[in-house]
Amino acid sequence: MPGRWNAAVTAVAKYLPERRLTNADLEKMVDTSDEWIRTRTGIRERRILEKGLGSSHMAIQAARQILDHRGIGPDEIDLIIVSTVTPDMMFPATACLVQDGIGAKRAWGFDLSAACCGFLYALVVGAKFVETGAHRKVLVIGADKMSSIIDYTDRETCVLFGDGAGAVLLEPVEDPETGLLDFLFQVDGAGGKSLYMPGGGSLNPSTHETVDQKMHFVHQDGRAVFKFAVPSMADVSAEILRQNNLTGEDVALFIPHQANLRIIDAAARRMGIGDDKVVVNIDRYGNTTCGTIPIGLTEAVEEGRLKKGDLLVLASAGAGFTWGSALLRWGI
Ligand code: UT7
Repeated sequence: MPGRWNAAVTAVAKYLPERRLTNADLEKMVDTSDEWIRTRTGIRERRILEKGLGSSHMAIQAARQILDHRGIGPDEIDLIIVSTVTPDMMFPATACLVQDGIGAKRAWGFDLSAACCGFLYALVVGAKFVETGAHRKVLVIGADKMSSIIDYTDRETCVLFGDGAGAVLLEPVEDPETGLLDFLFQVDGAGGKSLYMPGGGSLNPSTHETVDQKMHFVHQDGRAVFKFAVPSMADVSAEILRQNNLTGEDVALFIPHQANLRIIDAAARRMGIGDDKVVVNIDRYGNTTCGTIPIGLTEAVEEGRLKKGDLLVLASAGAGFTWGSALLRWGI
């Protein structure tokens, strides 16, 4: 439960690379069709970051916009948390690259790895530093260059993912009804083998053999992940409302992880909310893993879909398995 302060989002930003990879492009690369991709996933195109740039590039662009929007200098940032499954390197942490990139001289930081739930987990961890009074300005970023770990000869995964980043600034507010109000997180490690990248870690360090066996790419049992994700994301989205004595009527906006339009629709139905209250951008960006929720939040703000006092629910489900939801009241 929150302490003396609540942590509220006071600025949002997103960065999407320019280059588009459309379903028509993918039809030329693998045995797939625009019709299959659209009807099974809801995706029409995704963005691809150029070679020679890593996730930190997108994170830094989003972080700079946050400073601009909020009108603050980089040395006012206390803490930087980057959620990513595609750090520039195993180490140093991408948060260190962002700290240097924006010149946040006073900040410390770290990366948080929770796959599709990375941003949600990072948001709540960041909020705790604000709620305790330890920090006043925490930058939480979700950034993934999924194209760096995708096998573009595997039609079962290459159609799903894209590159992108989003960021939020968390600051203390005294109103106990504003900012992060509640969260619900779960993990089931037994699902690990359904969605993973086996190579490049300490278990299977990169060798010619691991590369020949394509262990440096995403491996997914799509059906198994789908079977887990549909009920899990729907459960946590509905349960966070129930435990706060709320119904879908009370929710102004639902911002789900963008992995599959069918998973999003199932969660919205379970919450009892209509399409007009659901943020969907999977058609334009695909699944950007840690980027999906902050990108969706930023677009909702840009489109004027949120006003002070609105209740919003964020939710995700993915590799780990990890799943979770967060309840916030908008304060700006
Ligand atoms: O954020 C990370 C979490 N990840 C997810 O949430 C992903 C969850 N899973 C999914 O979204 C869906 O399972 C997929 C979109 C990956 C697949 O949709 P599906 O309705 O579960 O299809 P399926 O895996 O049951 O495959 C149906 C058929 C198969 O052919 P057969 O065995 O029926 O002959 C696949 O080989 O579709 C085939 N297929 C494709 N066909 C054309 C698989 N990928 C493609 C493709 N184009 N890209």
